[in-house]
Amino acid sequence: MYSDKVLDHFKNPRNMGEMKDADAIGEVGNPVCGDLIYIYIKVNEENGKEIISDISFQTFGCAAAIATSSMVTELAKGKSLDEALKITRGDVADSLDGLPPIKMHCSNLAADGLHAAIKIYREKQGN
Ligand code: FES
Repeated sequence: MYSDKVLDHFKNPRNMGEMKDADAIGEVGNPVCGDLIYIYIKVNEENGKEIISDISFQTFGCAAAIATSSMVTELAKGKSLDEALKITRGDVADSLDGLPPIKMHCSNLAADGLHAAIKIYREKQGN
C-alpha cells in the first residue's frame, strides 16, 4: 500500500525531534483524525535572504504523517522562506512517490506545519 520511499521515511525519519532553540514552531492538527505535528525552524540571513538553516519535526500520527513530515523537512532545509512557502501538499506526496488516496489527507499536516512555522516566524519579525 505504501511506496518504498514512504516506508523508508517512516522507518528512518530525517530531522526528527524537538528543537530547543527554534526561531519558530508551527503546530497543526489534522481535523480528520486528530493527529498532531510540530515543525521547528531555525532561520539565518544569507545574502539578503532568510534561509531555513535547520528544521525538525515531532509528529504524533500515522505512518504517512511521519513520512510526510520527514520529507517536508528535507524539502525545506536550505531553502529561503519564500521558496519553502511554495512547497505544497502535492509536492510532499509526489516526493514520496505518492500516497494511497485514503492517506492523502495525512500529507496536509506536513506542508501546513511548515507554512505555519514560517508564518509565526514572520509575525515575530513584525512582517
Ligand atoms: Fe492522521 Fe494520517 S491518519 S495524519
